[in-house]
Amino acid sequence: MNLDRRRIMQGLAATAAVGGPASVARAASVPVEQGMAPVPGGRIWWKRVGAGRKTPLLVLHGGPGAGHNYLLPLAALADERPVIFYDQLGCGRADSPQDESIYTIQRSVDEVDAVRKALKLDRIVLLGHSWGSMLAIEYLCQGRGEGVEKLVLAGALASTPQAVAGMQRLLDALPDNAGAKLKALEQQGKQDSKEYAALVELFYARHLCRSKPLPREVKQSYDIVGKSIAYRVMNGPNEFTITGVIKDWDRRKDLGLIKQPTLITTGEFDEVTLDCHETIRDGVPGSELVVFKGCSHMLMDEKPKEYVARLRRFFA
Ligand code: PHE
Repeated sequence: MNLDRRRIMQGLAATAAVGGPASVARAASVPVEQGMAPVPGGRIWWKRVGAGRKTPLLVLHGGPGAGHNYLLPLAALADERPVIFYDQLGCGRADSPQDESIYTIQRSVDEVDAVRKALKLDRIVLLGHSWGSMLAIEYLCQGRGEGVEKLVLAGALASTPQAVAGMQRLLDALPDNAGAKLKALEQQGKQDSKEYAALVELFYARHLCRSKPLPREVKQSYDIVGKSIAYRVMNGPNEFTITGVIKDWDRRKDLGLIKQPTLITTGEFDEVTLDCHETIRDGVPGSELVVFKGCSHMLMDEKPKEYVARLRRFFA
């Protein structure tokens, strides 16, 4: 466990006021089921909202290790189709085996198939956010996409080095030389200082989630990420220090393998910069890119109604 990171994320969660906009479908008529499912390495936790007749939506969360919580605004789509969320291994309510070597990209890809098998999801529409978009791209590039009818890639990247370069530009553009201060504190090994935490928070409030106060579900995911072994091993200590197993991943040359109708979404201030999304748009035949004004990475929490409405049109 990286205590510095836990402290920072818990600090963020604590400073956010409780109870942001209620964004989760709570209609009494919408059935909700949950359970555990076996996957390579342990068991994940899943939740299925709704029972409509349309093709189920399977949702892949980011982080890796952020849990499903911040994506719950998508449950609004459950009035027409089942929406399935799951916490990937190593975070949230899933098992968190402590053997670091199991947290690989390939295991996560195999996990998607295990979840589809356990929940009988032969036909799906698929949404991946952030790391979840990488996972969806990898899954489809490996030819696992049978029965995947449509694809949404949100806050998306086809290459970690490309996204890291974009985040470096955002860090350099922070006010008051905050980027340079961050780097200096890192070089002095002061990642556990209050000053460092405040600078990380500044970046997150601009480029990760701009809602004030932070919605409850986002707070929950910040808390989950702070405790997640998957985040530490696969991503790194924070959003812009990518030292984990995903650091060299790059599928830019293979995007033509994706045949599904694809919608790409991002926010104007997304920590995953616009060029990453344009690369995907240019690589996936016939795909469409939508940029949400005033939003950042967690656009489904920042403008849940607009976001859900756009997805509804795409899935129709
Ligand atoms: N940490 C990001 C997420 O929320 C994913 C990411 C990885 C972004 C690498 C940029 C570079 O999933």
